[in-house]
Amino acid sequence: MTQLQATIETLDAGAARAAIPALTEILRDCVANGASVGFMAWNTLPEFERYWIGVAIEVEAGRTILLAARDESGAIAGTAQLQLIAKPNQPHRAEVAKVLVHSRARRQGLGAALVNAAEAAARAAKRDLLVLDSDEDGEARRLYRRLGWTEVGTIPRYALLPDGSFCGSTIFYKSLA
Ligand SMILES: CC(C)(COP(=O)(O)OP(=O)(O)OC[C@H]1O[C@@H](n2cnc3c(N)ncnc32)[C@H](O)[C@@H]1OP(=O)(O)O)[C@@H](O)C(=O)NCCC(=O)NCCS
Repeated sequence: MTQLQATIETLDAGAARAAIPALTEILRDCVANGASVGFMAWNTLPEFERYWIGVAIEVEAGRTILLAARDESGAIAGTAQLQLIAKPNQPHRAEVAKVLVHSRARRQGLGAALVNAAEAAARAAKRDLLVLDSDEDGEARRLYRRLGWTEVGTIPRYALLPDGSFCGSTIFYKSLA
């Protein structure tokens, strides 16, 4: 398999709104392929769209850094978020969330490029402790291990898979200090 020449970009609020159709399709595809990413198999496109409208609001408020990965055709094929924790006692911390790559573009390095870009964005925002949680059985767990994240443990029955069955959630952290 050849390596995709991925372009990772940071979307401002306007770009985030313009990207909602592509982001919605990525989320739809991930849920349809069984990923535990906050939604169920029966959720509808308008519900996925509403989620991204909310993300654009967070971007506008400066609370979330939204990343997009474009494939060689220029289409958005993946995304990730860096959520800046607003608590006064955690100014050094951020969470990586919703690392999603469309199934048509997987296993070509986009996921790793997005996580690397989220880490670079965290450094630029002076956030040097990163936390995330991941479906215990998904491909994401291998991705984070490979990129040097530390696995804290797994909480059983944390969430539901799109089909309604339980899945555990594995908590990871990475110190950039
Ligand atoms: C997890 C996810 C983001 C990974 O995205 P991806 O773009 O496939 O990630 P990568 O390409 O960087 O790595 C995936 C695999 O492809 C391999 N790979 C990367 N480039 C490759 C290439 N050019 N040739 C062959 N294999 C390659 C990696 O080594 C890795 O292998 P492994 O899983 O056996 O360790 C994607 O599977 C996904 O969106 N899943 C559903 C949503 C989800 O669960 N997200 C996580 C929420 S926390």
